[in-house]
Amino acid sequence: MSQWKKTIYKTVCLSFLLVITVTVLQRGMAPSQFMQGQEQKDPLSPEPPKTQKRDTAFLTSTFWKTKKEKAPVEKEGVTEKHAKSWDVTTTNCSANQNFSKVDWFKGLEPNFQQFLLYRHCRYFPMLINHPEKCSGDVYLLIVVKSIITQHDRREAIRRTWGQEKEVEGKRIRTLFLLGTASKEEERVNYQKLLDYENHIYGDILQWDFLDSFFNLTLKEVHFLKWLNIYCDNVRYIFKGDDDVFVSPSNILEFLEDKKEGEDLFVGDVLYKAKPIRKKENKYYIPSALYNKSNYPPYAGGGGFIMDGPLAKRLHKTSETLELYPIDDVFLGMCLEVLKVSPIGHEGFKTFGIVKNKNSKMNKEPCFFRSMLVVHKLLPPELLQMWNLVHSNLTCSRKLNIL
Ligand SMILES: *[C@@H]1O[C@H](CO)[C@@H](O)[C@H](O)[C@H]1NC(C)=O
Ligand SMILES: *[C@@H]1O[C@H](CO)[C@@H](O)[C@H](O)[C@H]1NC(C)=O
Ligand SMILES: *[C@@H]1O[C@H](CO)[C@@H](O)[C@H](O)[C@H]1NC(C)=O
Ligand SMILES: *[C@@H]1O[C@H](CO)[C@@H](O)[C@H](O)[C@H]1NC(C)=O
Ligand SMILES: *[C@@H]1O[C@H](CO)[C@@H](O)[C@H](O)[C@H]1NC(C)=O
Repeated sequence: MSQWKKTIYKTVCLSFLLVITVTVLQRGMAPSQFMQGQEQKDPLSPEPPKTQKRDTAFLTSTFWKTKKEKAPVEKEGVTEKHAKSWDVTTTNCSANQNFSKVDWFKGLEPNFQQFLLYRHCRYFPMLINHPEKCSGDVYLLIVVKSIITQHDRREAIRRTWGQEKEVEGKRIRTLFLLGTASKEEERVNYQKLLDYENHIYGDILQWDFLDSFFNLTLKEVHFLKWLNIYCDNVRYIFKGDDDVFVSPSNILEFLEDKKEGEDLFVGDVLYKAKPIRKKENKYYIPSALYNKSNYPPYAGGGGFIMDGPLAKRLHKTSETLELYPIDDVFLGMCLEVLKVSPIGHEGFKTFGIVKNKNSKMNKEPCFFRSMLVVHKLLPPELLQMWNLVHSNLTCSRKLNIL
């Protein structure tokens, strides 16, 4: 009987202790620490170095608490050797009043009017910078156009083709390129979340311009200027969208036999593409903006590769041309001035694998395995395809594309 009492007594005491412990633990836990814990459990998460993780845990617990936060612009980290830094610190750009006198301007669609009114505003201040990203030699810099609300796409990319790593001594680094939220109501909350995301991953570049479709060219010229300032030792750049499948290993294989010093610009190249004149099309261009019948050859903006030195020359050339609302066409115009021909390659499918959207080819992992870039995959599809391609896939033959 006393044995029974002892057991009950022990059990009650232990339960009581357990309840207290759990309560204390819960109270002491910041929400950020809770999120951090979840993240660690995720088997798909890339593994940052241990020390970094501890640092992050420490910093994140204070992240949400600090009310008056310093502006996230990073001024430090610029070494003696890289005394250059982003030199645009204020936005002082008003609408170009010259157009108010022009008749054809009044007949334009509002989005083109807005584009033209602010076309001369070339550079904006940086909100989030990472001057250290290119320190040392970077073999492949992956840069991804993204918008503030699409956190899930960035997450999927970090887990798949955007993983930073070193392959046989070749360092791969990844950055996301962003403007500000295009909708007023999204701005405050999403900005805070983006700052937090950057706090954890340190892979965001953000400039103070609206992330709209026509401002994609701004993103292009801002990136080129940034690269020119901070990245002297980047061998190759992959630039693409956040809804594509990319095979970094195939890209490395493709780049293996490329010689230093030859201009490389490769992707899904369109030759003699015609400006679209149908108003309902996303890519419609009024002839007041472009009156030639063909565009110069250009690579689809979904994903292309260029070499570092060429990117620097593209930066200089871009400053001599007026901005064009379609970013990949604009780069084609710059290449034309430089007399560099973009090279088309079978492994880049930025306009889809086959025209027919329902075709099985669009879901065939053996096909993806032999590609460099394929448009278009959203996060769940991307994660699934990535796992399939990296599983023990039995394909009848490796498609001979590389
Ligand atoms: C902005 O530019 C205008 C005209 O270029 C000038 O008059 C004005 O003082 C500038 N404002 C600031 C805050 O720099
Ligand atoms: C407006 O026109 C004047 C005179 O042609 C020119 O000097 C000025 O640069 C133009 N403004 C802009 C913003 O392009
Ligand atoms: C591009 O961004 C600037 C700065 O935020 C803004 O003033 C302009 O209206 C935007 N242009 C378009 C076409 O959205
Ligand atoms: C095409 O546009 C250019 C520059 O805007 C202009 O100089 C030229 O006269 C235009 N050509 C035709 C055929 O409209
Ligand atoms: C894949 O195949 C290799 C060798 O055939 C085997 O060692 C490995 O365990 C397999 N992996 C999976 C995930 O099945």
